[in-house]
This record gives sequence, structure tokens and C-alpha cells, in this order.
Amino acid sequence: MWLFGAYGGLATTVVVGARAIARRLAPPRGLATELPVAAGIPFQDLGDIVFGGHEIRHSDYASSAAEIQARTGSLPPELLRALRSDLAAASKNVVTGAMPNAGRTIDSLADRKAVREPLATQVERIRDDIRAFARRNRLDRVVCVNLTSTEPALRPSPAHRSAAAFERALARNDVKAVRPSAIYAWVAATEGLPFVHFTPSESAFLPAIREAFATSGTPFMGRDGKTGETLVKSALAPMFAYRNLRVLSWQGYNILGDRDGRVLADKENKKTKVATKDALLPSILGYPLHTHVGIDYVPSLHDLKTAWDFVHFEGFLGFKMALQFIWQGCDAILAAPLVLDLVRFADLAKRRGESGPMPHLACFFKQPFGVQEHDLHRQWQLLVAYLDHVRAGQRG
Ligand SMILES: NC(=O)c1ccc[n+]([C@@H]2O[C@H](COP(=O)([O-])OP(=O)(O)OC[C@H]3O[C@@H](n4cnc5c(N)ncnc54)[C@H](O)[C@@H]3O)[C@@H](O)[C@H]2O)c1
Repeated sequence: MWLFGAYGGLATTVVVGARAIARRLAPPRGLATELPVAAGIPFQDLGDIVFGGHEIRHSDYASSAAEIQARTGSLPPELLRALRSDLAAASKNVVTGAMPNAGRTIDSLADRKAVREPLATQVERIRDDIRAFARRNRLDRVVCVNLTSTEPALRPSPAHRSAAAFERALARNDVKAVRPSAIYAWVAATEGLPFVHFTPSESAFLPAIREAFATSGTPFMGRDGKTGETLVKSALAPMFAYRNLRVLSWQGYNILGDRDGRVLADKENKKTKVATKDALLPSILGYPLHTHVGIDYVPSLHDLKTAWDFVHFEGFLGFKMALQFIWQGCDAILAAPLVLDLVRFADLAKRRGESGPMPHLACFFKQPFGVQEHDLHRQWQLLVAYLDHVRAGQRG
């Protein structure tokens, strides 16, 4: 598995969690691929996954995990001691990433020596890094996952319209036409590596990059993992629809700390996130309504995010009532099992010769690519139908 954003809170929790489960030091809690509904599907064994990735900060998995434990308490020291050699081995596979036109907030995170290369050279270096990783570890397949910081929106450019135009933009070093996520997705698409886009960054699915995925016949899916407040929203909103209760307003306030929160404190980066969190209610309910998503950076919370939602709705005889909920989750603990599920599904799709977007994975994303369905229950049925289809194919 190739992790873009390899030493982030989420990527570190993914590596620690996968190794802990593989060594039977933790149960596979939170993984949909371990549910009875997925029985009999030939998913990759978690113990066989080798980790590598790109990062823009100096670190290693032991230090990153110890930092998470000190701040949030989610990765127990005895577990980290037991995984010391696994974490050291994975750290050897992490190399310096690319950050063209990443925006000032992401630039300020970087402490690896900035590589001032032309875009085309950066692309080739990223490509070579992944090939070398596969060769060194004798891997038949590599699945790429984007877990980098949320980027600001990218200004539309004619370079995005086709793969040929994008290639020309790379060749003339048109840095303004790309973001790091576009470069990473482009390499995955042109190398034929399945790609999971877990962040809200828009640039990964430019038409040019989708064309490249289609040409190489490669599965991909995104964007923005659905792990917390939005997950609850997509489960609860259908209830109002089923009972013909009219939702008048849905106000949501999120407070979070950590590096992710710091990046989202930049209003340009935040816009990207709010767009993916705010889109689903009118789509589920079928009418426009007053909504608001607030995100504030509260450093002392670290990865323990809190969301308060207030839902104002109208019932029989027009009487107005309210539902409120408070969600207190540890962001990376919620997201890491989804990343492992998604990687297993993407790998399965590649082995089955599937290509393009994976709509059956809609339930894992806030903005599932190419899927208009946001109701969690219906999205779940898409996943169950896919699992049944795979099983039927195995029998036939
Ligand atoms: N519940 C969740 O944790 C959750 C849910 C949905 C989406 N996400 C998204 O996943 C991403 C990761 O979340 P996180 O909490 O781990 O954040 P994080 O800030 O801890 O990790 C991001 C990592 O990416 C690295 N990075 C930034 N730009 C890079 C580049 N160009 N190349 C290589 N590395 C780069 C950073 O140095 C950092 O280590 C964010 O975009 C977040 O919005 C997280």
C-alpha cells in the first residue's frame, strides 16, 4: 500500500492498526470487510500488506505514533513497543513527496528539503519511487491512497480538459495548473495503480486524470472519507424523509485540533472541506433547506473532534420540534479501518479486471464520485449487492 501523506495522523494509525490486527494484538473492529456480509470474498490478508509512501515532513512511524499517543491516547505504548520492528521497516519505505502549488499553509508544514524540480521531473521521481518500492518488496500490486492535507481549490485551466493537455502542462512546467493531489493521482492513473482518494481535495479527479484512469483501465474512488458528523447525518436524514417530517434547518459545528485542524483553519483549505460536508442534505431530503457547516480549530482537542448538530424540523399540524446530537470521535480511529477496507476493495477490483469509479464504495465517502445517492442505507445496499455479485461470480 502506498500512502501519500505517509506520516500523518491517519496514515500512522492505518499502519499501526493493520500491523496490530495482523499480529493478533487487536481485533479488526471497525472494518466492514470483516463483517459476516463480506464472508467468502477473497480480500487481501492484512498481514500481507507492505507499507510505503510519500511525505513532506521528517519523521518515522515510531515517533509519529508516540506523538499521537501523547496527544490523544489512542495508540497504547505496549502496542507500539510490540510493533517496534514493523514500524521501523515501514519507515524505511517513506520518501520525500512532491508539493507543487500546495498553498501556503501546507508549505508551512514541510520540513523535508524542498525539491525544486520541474513538474515533469517530479512526476517521474514519484513514479520511480513507487516502482522501486514494488521491486524491492517483490509486490505484484500496489494500491495508492491519498491521505495528504486538504488542499485549497484549484483554478480551472484548459490543461485539465484532456490527458494530452495535462501532459503538455507538465512538460511546460505550468505549476499553477496542478496541486500535489493532481500529481499523485496522475501517477497512479498512468501507472495503472488503483487509487483511493480519502481527502476532500478536488484536484485528483480532473477530467484529464479521469481520462488517464480510463485509458489504463484502473479502478479509483473518492472523495473525502465519511467517518463522523457527515456519516451520522447521512444515516439520520433519511429518517425524516421516511416519516414525512420537513427539515427546516440543519446547523452543524465542528471543532477539532491537530495538523488537520490547523490546515482547515486556513479559509481556502476549509472551503474544500465544507463543500464535501454540506452537499448531501438537499440530495437526501429532496428539497432545499437552510444548512450551515462550521469548522473551528481548537488546538487542545488534538484528534478528538467534537461536532454539535441542531436539526429543526416540522411535524404534524406544522408543529416545530428539534433534534440535537453531539458526536465525539477520534478522527483517525474512525477513519483508519475505512482506509483498510477501501484498499482491500480497490485491490479486489484490480484483480477482477474492473476499471473506473467504484460506485459500490459510495457509503465510505462524503462525496462519492459519480454517485448521486447520499442516503447511507441505500449506499449500504449498493455495497451488499456488489458483494453478492462477486460471490455469485465465484460460484459460477
Ligand atoms: N476522520 C478522518 O481522519 C478523516 C476523514 C475524512 C477525510 N480525512 C482527510 O484525510 C487527510 C489526512 O488526515 P490526517 O488527520 O491524517 O491529517 P494530517 O495533517 O495528520 O496528515 C496529513 C499528512 O500529509 C502530509 N502531506 C501534506 N502534503 C503532502 C504532500 N504534498 N505530499 C506528501 N505528504 C503531504 C502532511 O505532512 C501530514 O503528515 C486530510 O485531508 C483529512 O481531511 C480525514
